[in-house]
Amino acid sequence: MTKFETLASITDVLLDDATGPDLLRDTIDIYRDLLLTASGIDLGGEESIDHFDTGTGVAIGATWAALCIDDLVRTKRFVSGLHRAVQDVLARKSGPVHVFYAGTGPFATLALPLMTRFTPEQLQFTCLEITDASYLAVQRVFADLRLEQYVIDVIQTDASTFRIAGDLPVDIMLSETMQYCLIDEMQVPIALNLMAQLPPEVIMLPERITLMLGVLEDTRDQAVAVELGTIFTVDRASLAAYRPTPGNTDFPTVRLPVPAPNGVAYGQLAIRTAVDVYGGYGLTDYESGLTVPRIIGDYPTAGDPLEAIDFTYEIDPSPLLWMDFVLPGVALAGA
Ligand SMILES: C[S@@+](CC[C@H](N)C(=O)[O-])C[C@H]1O[C@@H](n2cnc3c(N)ncnc32)[C@H](O)[C@@H]1O
Repeated sequence: MTKFETLASITDVLLDDATGPDLLRDTIDIYRDLLLTASGIDLGGEESIDHFDTGTGVAIGATWAALCIDDLVRTKRFVSGLHRAVQDVLARKSGPVHVFYAGTGPFATLALPLMTRFTPEQLQFTCLEITDASYLAVQRVFADLRLEQYVIDVIQTDASTFRIAGDLPVDIMLSETMQYCLIDEMQVPIALNLMAQLPPEVIMLPERITLMLGVLEDTRDQAVAVELGTIFTVDRASLAAYRPTPGNTDFPTVRLPVPAPNGVAYGQLAIRTAVDVYGGYGLTDYESGLTVPRIIGDYPTAGDPLEAIDFTYEIDPSPLLWMDFVLPGVALAGA
């Protein structure tokens, strides 16, 4: 089997909605090995391990970006969502679909499978990456797998400040530069910067990221018992509505009441993350490292009361969901 044929059979598995967990794990093992060889990346090397501080957020080191591939369901759903988005754009235009891929990591993991499903006349990528190790490695991957004809350019830059050339006809903006709860990494500043420069018909992928307050069951697997409301949504509408002022770049504060337990023995309060990738593909609680609930603390009791929590998503000096705990009669600052 050639490397292209191996990649094509990996793609078959990733795009099959009926693929089960064992086959997915075995297939991602093969995909990772293919990419490790093609990229020549040294996962233990200092230049790959260190994170890069952009000054306004963190870009993870090439080692950790490479290992995102092992977030199995994430990888599968993003590839499937991107495939659906490319199909949708192709249905309405004949020329190549142009995907602007911000934060490729060393492997361009989410892009490569589709290069076995579409021709270069149908699909083209512009790639952005900030770290030296990932920028160099991803170019080796394209060359080794002979996929360069799908790539317009690979640009080493900060995607949160990059200016898109006016003549670049972008159809899809793809970026997976996030952690659960949208902390530290630069998904929101990147999406804000790039989507503000692109016309309204451009597809943003993921389409929507939602942070929600929830109560977990008091059990070992901590399923979500109660939903207490939406904290923050990142989608085209929320990005378009964002209005920073000279002294304040925060998103609007959202207050969510925390009801008294009224005799019910709840587990812990947590922030949940949901990702709508595209076309019905998404990630919910515990399906991915991106959607692990973040524990805030025990559910309030009569002796340790809490009336509400004020949530503010900040992007300056770096991405963070700030919380103010509102006690009955007093507001206390928290983190
Ligand atoms: C979470 S990894 C994902 C890698 C790969 N796209 C995947 O999904 O498996 C995010 C990548 O985006 C890059 N990145 C983060 N912030 C960036 C920025 N502001 N500009 C360009 N690249 C960035 C990181 O260096 C890292 O390689």
